[in-house]
Amino acid sequence: MKCISIIVLLGLLGYYMNTLYTTWLPTNYMFDPKTLNEICNGVISQYNTTDSKFDVKVMLKDIRNELASHYGEEYINKYVEEEWVFNNAGGAMGQMIILHASISEYLIIFGSAVGTEGHTGVHFADDYFTILHGEQLAALPNALEPEVYKAGQTHHLRKGFAKQYAMPSGSFALELAQGWIPCMLPFGFLDTFSSTLDVYTLYRTVYLTARDMGKNLIQNGKF
Ligand SMILES: *[C@@H]1O[C@H](CO)[C@@H](O)[C@H](O)[C@H]1NC(C)=O
Repeated sequence: MKCISIIVLLGLLGYYMNTLYTTWLPTNYMFDPKTLNEICNGVISQYNTTDSKFDVKVMLKDIRNELASHYGEEYINKYVEEEWVFNNAGGAMGQMIILHASISEYLIIFGSAVGTEGHTGVHFADDYFTILHGEQLAALPNALEPEVYKAGQTHHLRKGFAKQYAMPSGSFALELAQGWIPCMLPFGFLDTFSSTLDVYTLYRTVYLTARDMGKNLIQNGKF
């Protein structure tokens, strides 16, 4: 009986959150994928990636600075070298730095110096992945050829869909997720317990996420 009550409650909660997903939740969004894509392309176009002097870090910092000048320093974290963390999820391993995290949105730079491949996860959020350097391959289960995203292109992974994806060595992207962000977090954390046992990374990730969600909610009044 208790078990059935819990299932009914979870069902109602899910139904209610799904209704809010298209009504109230978007009223909290401050980012939009089109503007982010334009900001990224503006920065990317200033760099010649075939030049031996090209340094991807300089470009990533520039992306962060452009975002901060567009959205305000209080919403976009500084590019702090020590705030890069590993992320293991869906069998893929990458590196990320959190630029913004709130309850309804996150904005991160995600990529891999080594290269990675895995499952995107199925999320209660829409995900917009703009390639900054390198590329991403992605495919739905019925696709026999991958979708290929190059620098400046945005890959939209819709709520509830899953793909296999891969990024070759040295690929980095700006990732915007909009939706019920707390529902996405278990996907990002659980590999610690089933696989990596890297509790230091888990601690850093939880700390950096909670710090930013708290700051945005309390100081900025941003849900
Ligand atoms: C980019 O750099 C390469 C190597 O230095 C050079 O050959 C090429 O002309 C440059 N392209 C542009 C568009 O500046």
